[in-house]
Amino acid sequence: MDRDQLIDLTRRALKLARDKTTDLTPAEHTVAADTYTSAQRHAEDKSMLLTSPQLVGYSSELPRPGTYGTKTVMGRSILLTRSADNTVRAFDNVCLHRQSRIADGCGAARRLACPYHAWTYDLDGNLVGVPGKEGFPETRSGPAKLTELPAAECAGFLWISLDRDAKSPSAVRNTNCESPIRSRSPCLRMRDLTGKSFTNVPLRLSRSVIKKSSSCFSILV
Ligand code: FES
Repeated sequence: MDRDQLIDLTRRALKLARDKTTDLTPAEHTVAADTYTSAQRHAEDKSMLLTSPQLVGYSSELPRPGTYGTKTVMGRSILLTRSADNTVRAFDNVCLHRQSRIADGCGAARRLACPYHAWTYDLDGNLVGVPGKEGFPETRSGPAKLTELPAAECAGFLWISLDRDAKSPSAVRNTNCESPIRSRSPCLRMRDLTGKSFTNVPLRLSRSVIKKSSSCFSILV
């Protein structure tokens, strides 16, 4: 897409937003009722959403190793961490003991302790402390880890998949979303998306800017 096309599209999008409308088809369009009632379609849509990368935040929300944050994504509480090797990880924010939520909000910590009985996890999700272990004789010994989800950092944003088996983190990382964003929006500098000030922009605004298309993501302004 060349620069003139980009400017035309942007003007059109802004006008539609100002007029509180959208592009209209030339004639009335009827949607089949089973679009809304089909159980099979519902299952397919849900599966697609669970396996697709979801944009959940800005890289700058995890500004350095040892920071964490929490998000609610499609009703699920998700724990995001930046571990010591600078890797962004995502976990179900659910304690291995009695499924309490482990963390709320965001911050910096070497370890996170569940508020219920203080089972403790490092930022790689490993269970590293069980206070009063003698009180849990039935608990299996050996390494244990929070449920990890595919996560990636791309174009200054944090992405996860809600299906742990959907794609490996590297596969999500290889969705190569940054390249189409760059090519479609030459005036946008990726580094602009990683600045601290960008955390002040509501994510819903970014979501309105980014429109998900079939297999990649394109930026509209
Ligand atoms: S529920 Fe988390 S330590 Fe018990």
